[in-house]
Amino acid sequence: MITISNVQKSFQDLKVLKGVSLQIEDREIYGIIGQSGAGKSTLLRCINGLEAYDSGEIIVDGTLVRTNDKASLRLLQKRMGMIFQNFNLLERLDVYDNIALPMKFWGINPRSPESRSKITDLIHLVGLDDKIHVKPRELSGGQKQRVAIARALVLDPPFLLCDEATSALDPEITKGILSLLQKINREMGITVIVVTHQMEVVKQICGKVAFLSDGRVLSEGKPEELFIKPSVPEIKSFLRDGSELLPETGVNIQLFFFGPGAEQPIVTQMARELGKDFSISWAKLEDFRENVYGSLVLNVQPEDAESVCAFLDRKRIYWEVLD
Ligand SMILES: Nc1ncnc2c1ncn2[C@@H]1O[C@H](COP(=O)(O)OP(=O)(O)OP(=O)(O)O)[C@@H](O)[C@H]1O
Ligand SMILES: [Mg+2]
Repeated sequence: MITISNVQKSFQDLKVLKGVSLQIEDREIYGIIGQSGAGKSTLLRCINGLEAYDSGEIIVDGTLVRTNDKASLRLLQKRMGMIFQNFNLLERLDVYDNIALPMKFWGINPRSPESRSKITDLIHLVGLDDKIHVKPRELSGGQKQRVAIARALVLDPPFLLCDEATSALDPEITKGILSLLQKINREMGITVIVVTHQMEVVKQICGKVAFLSDGRVLSEGKPEELFIKPSVPEIKSFLRDGSELLPETGVNIQLFFFGPGAEQPIVTQMARELGKDFSISWAKLEDFRENVYGSLVLNVQPEDAESVCAFLDRKRIYWEVLD
């Protein structure tokens, strides 16, 4: 478990983390999302001790992260595999030796029978059996990231930290990498922390997400809660896709569908029961791992708004009137 309490961090006069608190449970896939410059990478680097924080506390499995204690820092970093947007592979080494690098750093012989079986198992896990002696320049971006993932796992860390791991990849390749991270989480029980500015990433794999803006956590929860019904204006503007051109007359009521009951034929029922006319101004379906969540904006006559809202309450549909 990782507990972050009121962490602050500045670079000279620039306050980058302004009191960040969050908790990451074991075996979850936790997302940290936000705009460029929000402080996501800095936070991740504070978690694994690559960067020192000024105040507050970061506790990993009961141990306080302190960058001035080099021996314990090294042990901490051994427990946290990390992958980046640019893969950071060594060009002169082949796939096997790139994956073996952390072993060398720790004085483990990468050619011993145990090391060999560990590395070949990992190469198999990431699906690169036929690339074992290939150099990075002969690999695609997605394949390079797979090598980086195997390298990050070679010392059996309980945590895998990913900083924009899929930002340089196209959507299809991204899906493959995300499925691999999911598999690693499920089958190996590794806690995965994903820093990204891509909402798709969070939607596909994260069980929980924190929205970081200007060094603060503005919201934390299940991705579907955050994205379907964003409570904070910053999140709304982050998610706005330009398609919300709503009518300026009448009353716009946004409906949110999630969980059981989301499949009720609510619109047709409402039209029949209330005998009112209304139009659908905007609709959106979002895929969150196994579930589909939806949102709908109805435009109703001002005199009908009250009865429509009462109907939605009776049906236990979440709604809000838009300004
Ligand atoms: N080593 C550093 N020295 C000085 N300023 C830094 C340093 N690292 C980051 N910053 C500044 O801190 C702020 C947050 O940077 P950070 O890299 O954490 O943002 P981010 O959320 O990861 O952004 P992105 O999505 O672009 O990666 C930025 O204004 C950045 O310029
Ligand atoms: Mg970053």
